[in-house]
Amino acid sequence: MKLITAIIRPEKFPTIKTALEQYGIQGMTVQNVHGYGQQRGHTEVYRGAEYTVDLLEKIRIEILVDDAQEHDVVGVLVAAANTARAGDGKVWVMAVDQVVRVRTGERDETAI
Ligand SMILES: Nc1ncnc2c1ncn2[C@@H]1O[C@H](COP(=O)(O)OP(=O)(O)OP(=O)(O)O)[C@@H](O)[C@H]1O
Ligand SMILES: [Mg+2]
Repeated sequence: MKLITAIIRPEKFPTIKTALEQYGIQGMTVQNVHGYGQQRGHTEVYRGAEYTVDLLEKIRIEILVDDAQEHDVVGVLVAAANTARAGDGKVWVMAVDQVVRVRTGERDETAI
């Protein structure tokens, strides 16, 4: 099992959510987050003064998948999130040791 984490542009979330649902993921967790990448945010002008805003609003999506889904789900995320501009986000994958569905006690792949 894998945990796929994606940091994406908030305005792309509806498109990405639809693409993931069309693929057939079983669930997701979504949070509003702030972060920066290699450009370290950007500079904004507010009331004539320049401010360096180094934490930009992003959305973090977490999806548990079985190993066979990893490649396709990462592909769906990257395709739906891409605008070819800096700040499109990042996707990473971690191995997961154990998953339990609390209601039934089911474990691992059957609990995803
Ligand atoms: N090394 C990192 N570790 C943790 N989170 C990161 C990292 N790099 C980027 N992020 C998260 O992803 C968000 C979007 O990153 P971003 O797309 O700007 O990455 P980037 O590496 O700067 O690529 P690009 O050059 O295309 O902008 C950041 O706001 C941050 O939340
Ligand atoms: Mg960046």
